[in-house]
Amino acid sequence: MKPIHPELGPEFTALIERSEAALERALPRAAQDDPGRLHAAMRYAVLGGGKRLRPLLVYASGGLFDAPPARLDVPAVAVELIHAYSLVHDDLPAMDDDALRRGRPTCHVAYGEATAILAGDALQALAFEHLARDSALEVDAAVRLAMLRALAEACGAEGMAGGQALDLAATGGRLDLPRLEHLHALKTGALIRASVRLGALAAGADSAAALRALDDYASALGLAFQIRDDLLDVEGATATLGKTAGKDAAQSKPTFPALLGIDGTHRRLRQVTAQALAALAPFGARAGQLAELARHVAARAR
Ligand code: IPE
Ligand code: IPE
Ligand code: MG
Ligand code: MG
Ligand code: MG
Repeated sequence: MKPIHPELGPEFTALIERSEAALERALPRAAQDDPGRLHAAMRYAVLGGGKRLRPLLVYASGGLFDAPPARLDVPAVAVELIHAYSLVHDDLPAMDDDALRRGRPTCHVAYGEATAILAGDALQALAFEHLARDSALEVDAAVRLAMLRALAEACGAEGMAGGQALDLAATGGRLDLPRLEHLHALKTGALIRASVRLGALAAGADSAAALRALDDYASALGLAFQIRDDLLDVEGATATLGKTAGKDAAQSKPTFPALLGIDGTHRRLRQVTAQALAALAPFGARAGQLAELARHVAARAR
């Protein structure tokens, strides 16, 4: 699968290529001897596919405060490493039990379950190591600490892992709309919020009002992203998605289409996309890239 969004402008293509190169540099080489197999599984899980939406959000958010992309590579890599780890674990037999990801066999199918679990663990650790250590991130120690904290909160029990636990607990049952949106805000929204925040922090943004507006944008965008993901699971085709369509209904997952129906889900998607765009109003035309990403998320076909 090509890692490029055909429908996003050329400046995004360049940023995707930039994040691919930065990810390649950050990952361990796959050696012949141990733990080369672990390294190979980590590289497999991260490289060769993926839309790189979270890195794009880092670049667009930092760009709003005039940070050049080179100053944003480190947080862009960190959020994508966390995302890749979350997908490896999400696909495991004990979770969604998926065999296809990004148009290829899932990490545990290719490397075995134990190595896939370790690859996820190691990708998570690498994200924090990279953010803690890499000197390409030109911020003072207090800002770096704030970035580490924001990423940790987004991954943990009050963030992605907590959302995954809510997803598992609700599987086979039914949630009302506020609970379903809370689940999505944690499972998918937390890392998307962190991506936008890390970009702004790396760029030196320190206005509480600006950070709050960006958080409102990212909260709505995160919800829109997972609503679209749920819709694509119903309406998309496996070949386009690069992952097995129709899995959510087969596994009785708590999703928007299950709760609101298809039309109701499209309506809710339009509402939250409008909320994301409205949150950018204080930034005016300078937030063009963030606005384009919001429109893209709502319309994406994979
Ligand atoms: C899929 O994320 C998992 C969700 C959080 C819904 P993406 O759709 O961003 O997956 P890739 O990175 O492009 O493969
Ligand atoms: C996964 O949500 C979210 C995380 C990995 C945190 P889904 O289970 O809906 O993602 P897909 O559809 O398998 O990509
Ligand atoms: Mg899942
Ligand atoms: Mg899944
Ligand atoms: Mg899904």
